[in-house]
Amino acid sequence: MSSGLEDAHSPTWHRWPGEGAVRGGLSVWLCRDAEPDAAAAIAICRDCLSDEELARMTRFRFPALRQQFAIAHGFVRHVLSLFHPQVAPRDWRFDTGAQGKPEVATGLPRVGFNLSHATGLVALAVAYDETGVFSGDPVGVDVEQATRNIGPGIARRYFAPEEVTDLEALPEPEQRDRFFALWSLKESYIKATGYGLSMPLDSFSFAFDAPGCVSFRRHPDRLPPEFATDHFTPVFWQTMLSSPAGERHSLALCTGAGTLQDDAITVFETVPGRAVRRLDPVWDRRPAET
Ligand SMILES: CC(C)(COP(=O)(O)OP(=O)(O)OC[C@H]1O[C@@H](n2cnc3c(N)ncnc32)[C@H](O)[C@@H]1OP(=O)(O)O)[C@@H](O)C(=O)NCCC(=O)NCCS
Repeated sequence: MSSGLEDAHSPTWHRWPGEGAVRGGLSVWLCRDAEPDAAAAIAICRDCLSDEELARMTRFRFPALRQQFAIAHGFVRHVLSLFHPQVAPRDWRFDTGAQGKPEVATGLPRVGFNLSHATGLVALAVAYDETGVFSGDPVGVDVEQATRNIGPGIARRYFAPEEVTDLEALPEPEQRDRFFALWSLKESYIKATGYGLSMPLDSFSFAFDAPGCVSFRRHPDRLPPEFATDHFTPVFWQTMLSSPAGERHSLALCTGAGTLQDDAITVFETVPGRAVRRLDPVWDRRPAET
């Protein structure tokens, strides 16, 4: 069922930034922090962090988490500078929305982004309109390491009742992938809205009725009135990525239907500041209408 990185069409690495890497629409940028080139990438990323980011980084006790933080945040800066080369990676500044969603600070070129990190993989989604009329399209991304243990009762605790019923009706070998597909899809939505975990996770649900598609339903009766979610119609993509080392990650993306000039998704694997290659993952789930 899954394809992921290994099935990409003979992707060739190009020197950063890679020809044709920047185009309008939704792009996803992946970085594996255990690559052989990781030490060089970490140095490149750490060099452009702000004082505040460096302070956050040093608060992590474990070197692996400090490394992941440096890669993730330096990665955001390097990728944003691909879209707006007049801003150097170290010159990006960020504000946060009411619920903590980072966005590019006022006064800098507008480009929508969202970051996710899991053990072994960082994913960055960028919504960009090359005509320059980009108006803050919602974008959310989530990666989850799909090989980790699932504690008992987690689905019942976090998912909507409809999702739990569908999940538990599946043959057991299929339940793990469905669990992580659901988890990452749900997070991509709460991250696109910017509400994060303040939003009740049972106030919306996903169904997987048609092969290869995912459909989304809101349950307004479970959503307190202070949550405004109907200003965009979300669309979703999800796939399971496999690495040559045998890792598996569920990647899910959410954006607003029809809000971008070209909503085709391009996916790049990178060694930040050094190399980039275009991937062509097969999406396990995509919107019914695409
Ligand atoms: C925002 C949130 C949803 C993301 O959490 P996460 O899955 O742990 O982490 P991810 O790596 O995917 O995303 C973290 C990044 O999202 C961004 N982010 C933070 N708040 C955000 C918000 N309100 N909306 C969108 N993005 C946000 C930040 O860039 C953050 O990276 P940083 O901490 O290095 O700055 C968070 O509220 C959370 O705590 N989640 C817990 C997960 C959970 O229990 N889920 C239930 C099952 S569905």
